[in-house]
Amino acid sequence: MDFIREIERIRTVRELTQSELEWMLELGEDHAEYLYRAAREVCDEVYGKKIYLRGLIEYTNYCKNNCFYCGIRAGHVGLSRYRMSDDRIMECVEKGYRLGARTIVIQGGESPMDGDDAIVKLVKRIREAHPDVVVTLCIGEKSRASYEKYYEAGAERYLLRHETANREHYRHLHPSAMKLEHRMQCLFDLKDIGFQVGCGMMIGSPGQTIGCLYEDLMFIRELQPHMVGIGPFIAQRDTPFSGENNGTADRTTRIMAIVRLLHPRVLMPATTALETVDPNGYEKGIRAGANVLMPDLTPPDVRKKYTIYDDKKGLTVDDEGEMERMKQRVRGLGYEIVTDRGDSLV
Ligand code: 5AD
Repeated sequence: MDFIREIERIRTVRELTQSELEWMLELGEDHAEYLYRAAREVCDEVYGKKIYLRGLIEYTNYCKNNCFYCGIRAGHVGLSRYRMSDDRIMECVEKGYRLGARTIVIQGGESPMDGDDAIVKLVKRIREAHPDVVVTLCIGEKSRASYEKYYEAGAERYLLRHETANREHYRHLHPSAMKLEHRMQCLFDLKDIGFQVGCGMMIGSPGQTIGCLYEDLMFIRELQPHMVGIGPFIAQRDTPFSGENNGTADRTTRIMAIVRLLHPRVLMPATTALETVDPNGYEKGIRAGANVLMPDLTPPDVRKKYTIYDDKKGLTVDDEGEMERMKQRVRGLGYEIVTDRGDSLV
């Protein structure tokens, strides 16, 4: 059949045109299944039946930016702000370590409270406590000199979603003070310094067209990142986008599968946002080619203030049973959560 040949072609040449992308997003459900299966096979060929864990710590909700989609934007004046102490962060690291995470993601808003020294100190502390743990930072746009300091301190990976590769769309999602060029420069700098880098985008964000998504794919091809984070946009009630529609699980998993076909070696999480829009989000993500899960280690009292979007679901690890249930869900798909650094094979 035509569509099978087409998917095989994309898988082989690792290229697609914008009209092919359009067509892939409009395929009927049955045909999309074939797309998912192909993406999954491609991932299995590289990474096998393993699912890697990243323990996520949402260490601060202070942010100087005003992204229109995000609930911790500076303009959300009613939000109670926090910055976890290093001691408390270390308790979360220990919790993650016990659960088998060998990557810790330090995520936060672009906090004006934390200078480079504070980040360097934290990175060193985690590395000293657990030399076998990878520190991933996800703390936004900084100068190249700052990134170099973090790298020297022992951070090895950096997540910075580009959010959209289309300039007009970027301006629709961010205030004019934020520049797409700068964000892209940050990603190239990070890679040049030696970080394993992750970019990514929200699916279904206001104003996103298929053309925008195609530009995202082109940007990913140019950057050649080690990781790609893709989740649906979810409206947050305290933002200018409160009334907008959420992105769908269907479109999100199709884009994930396409990224997997085009970039067999990237690491790709089944995101919390995907699990939030669909109760089987993790399963659907893994079936579409994801190979990473990011359990949230942030303590519940703090986590509820990290309101990047509404009704955040996802894997938390407040009780041991929850991780066990997650392992079962993954086993049910024929995969295994592993205790491993989970380096990118890009
Ligand atoms: N819906 C979905 N994802 C969001 N993010 C921020 N706000 C939202 C939202 N409303 C994502 C951004 C950011 C990541 C940490 O969370 O892509 O890079």
